[in-house]
Amino acid sequence: MSNQNDIDPKLLRSIAEQAATQAGHLIKEIWSQPRQISSKGFRDIVTDADLASQSLITELIRKRFPDHGFLTEEDDPDLPTTGPIIWIIDPVDGTTNYSRQIPSFCVSISAARLPNNGPRTEVEILAGAIYDPMRDELFSAAKGQGSTLNRQTIHVSQTSDLEIAAVGFDWSRENDRRQAMADIIGRIAHDVHTLRATGSAALALAWVAAGRFDLYFNLRIGPWDMAAAKVIIGEAGGQVSSLLGDRWDIEDSGCIVSNGRLHMPFKKLTHFDELVATLSDG
Ligand code: IPD
Ligand code: CA
Ligand code: CA
Repeated sequence: MSNQNDIDPKLLRSIAEQAATQAGHLIKEIWSQPRQISSKGFRDIVTDADLASQSLITELIRKRFPDHGFLTEEDDPDLPTTGPIIWIIDPVDGTTNYSRQIPSFCVSISAARLPNNGPRTEVEILAGAIYDPMRDELFSAAKGQGSTLNRQTIHVSQTSDLEIAAVGFDWSRENDRRQAMADIIGRIAHDVHTLRATGSAALALAWVAAGRFDLYFNLRIGPWDMAAAKVIIGEAGGQVSSLLGDRWDIEDSGCIVSNGRLHMPFKKLTHFDELVATLSDG
């Protein structure tokens, strides 16, 4: 059984860091080997490395916290889904990049608490870690304790002018979302410094926390893409919202994340709310 100390955000952060780093080393070690790739949906693939990474992470966490639960990107019927803490895991974020040896991907792990008797979506993310094995960069945070990159404190950028902003985004798999994304990009392309599609949402989000991007948006994001980043960005002084601008929760379909100063100017310039209203489940 967990005791109160097991829910200490510092301890959860340290376990998230250990698991993300070990899994990152594993996927880096095997990344030049031939891959087994299978399709798990429309424009959606999984590799043997995703599965190996997830097993390493969940075994490490279960040894330390046998009564904790899991919300993982890859299905594993053996994992408990309830517990005093739920670990939200993306074992390889940026699988398409990884499978093509494009060196931009990461491991993302967070520890969350569900409210007593509340809806499952209202989670409190207590700690998170995002590890980029190719650059050996570990982003992490715990609630109330600030965010770090390789143990150095990080903050979001100070940019308040879209003209000098670097904006990150990623393409969704669905055609209607790709079209909406193309429309948004068309509306801001002339008004920002630059736009980058990264292929790893969690890594791009960590880069917002570190001030490398000023804003990032994605019209379809999974809970495992965002959960660790949510606490890392929040602790670095940034803003995380749903597409509608509300508090982001794990069932939200997309996100806007920024240094806080650019959220409103971006939404206004892109007529974001109008476009989101046209999406099937915006
Ligand atoms: C995907 C990547 C991609 C983003 C997708 C994610 P995966 O995650 O982060 O950049 O656009 O929304 O699903 O499948 O590589 O873990
Ligand atoms: Ca992902
Ligand atoms: Ca993944």
